[in-house]
Amino acid sequence: MKMRIPFLDLADMHADLADELKAKFNKMLQKGIFSGGEEVDLLESSLEDFLKVPHAIACANGTDAMELALRVLEIGPGDEVIVPALTWVSTAEVVKMVGAEPVFCDVDQYGLLDLNVLEQQITERTKAIMPVHLYGKMVDMKRLMQITLPLGIKLVEDAAQAFGAFQEGNSAGAFGEMGCFSFYPTKNMGALGEAGLVITSDDALAKKIRLMLTHGQSKRDVHEMVGRNSRIDSLQAGFLNVKMEYFLAWQQKRKQLAGIYLEHLQHTKGITVPDRILKDDNNAHLFTIRTEERDALKQYLEKQGIGTAIHYPKAVPATKPFKGDGDFPMANKMAQTTLSLPLHPYLGEKEVRQVCEAVQAFYN
Ligand SMILES: Cc1ncc(COP(=O)(O)O)c(C=O)c1O
Repeated sequence: MKMRIPFLDLADMHADLADELKAKFNKMLQKGIFSGGEEVDLLESSLEDFLKVPHAIACANGTDAMELALRVLEIGPGDEVIVPALTWVSTAEVVKMVGAEPVFCDVDQYGLLDLNVLEQQITERTKAIMPVHLYGKMVDMKRLMQITLPLGIKLVEDAAQAFGAFQEGNSAGAFGEMGCFSFYPTKNMGALGEAGLVITSDDALAKKIRLMLTHGQSKRDVHEMVGRNSRIDSLQAGFLNVKMEYFLAWQQKRKQLAGIYLEHLQHTKGITVPDRILKDDNNAHLFTIRTEERDALKQYLEKQGIGTAIHYPKAVPATKPFKGDGDFPMANKMAQTTLSLPLHPYLGEKEVRQVCEAVQAFYN
């Protein structure tokens, strides 16, 4: 019998963990600590261990993480920040929010900042570059740093989709001045609400981020600088602590399922698969294929009860708030041709095979 396969079902995914999550909530309710506290400390120290970085600073969400990072680097009016033309809108949004100008760069065949054309976008006003590790696949950071280091250009990595991806043993986000993660519920490490993270190896930047996300307060009523409130919700920290225990097993399952997709679809004429998804520098967050028949395939799968998603239907410079000059052929092409198939740790092998059969049937 054919199963209905949603792209993602968060209720279903959390059913297994319901007892543990409820126990965590009850414990926190009893203690009455809803801001800061031991759950936040525990989350930060376990993330420092897992990501192998000296500072992991939890905050309210991934967008704030990036905005805070740009602010502590004192990027603002008159500065330019290079952002890939294909990404979630946040990456460009935060540049505008600090008063600087996003300068878009086209992407490569993987949807990542195209390092072959990046240098054409660099000017004397370029203060930072924000590489996005889109779909969970990391940008070649060694090559990127060969370009930026001699020029003194800062790197703020958008690792929102790349939690658990490592390049030569170093986590996504650990190469640049700062790396930013999102624990948005649909991410491979998702909270039960909003949460984010900044990582850095720089003690001074870490201190500034900590101050800035809590009104510049070093201790109660002592304000060192102008800041804001972007503290993580302690309940979310508690839930993330429960989920961290399962993270590696979930990642293993993602890779196993991605392997099944590759096995069945890599020779299917008409589609391009994410061929490097099983490598360490890819966390298999999304299984995003490319096809000229994207919209028809999406509709066909929908009719078969299979949910898919488009990441993203428009390149950022083609959206109303960011419209401007520039030609981004690859980003625009990807916006028209990419389709993400269901991939999460609660999906069964049988379901993945069913999706593969449906995709193959479409092309036959
Ligand atoms: C590439 C990318 N950047 C930034 C973000 C922003 O994270 P958040 O939704 O936690 O603000 C997301 C997630 O939505 C993302 O996928």
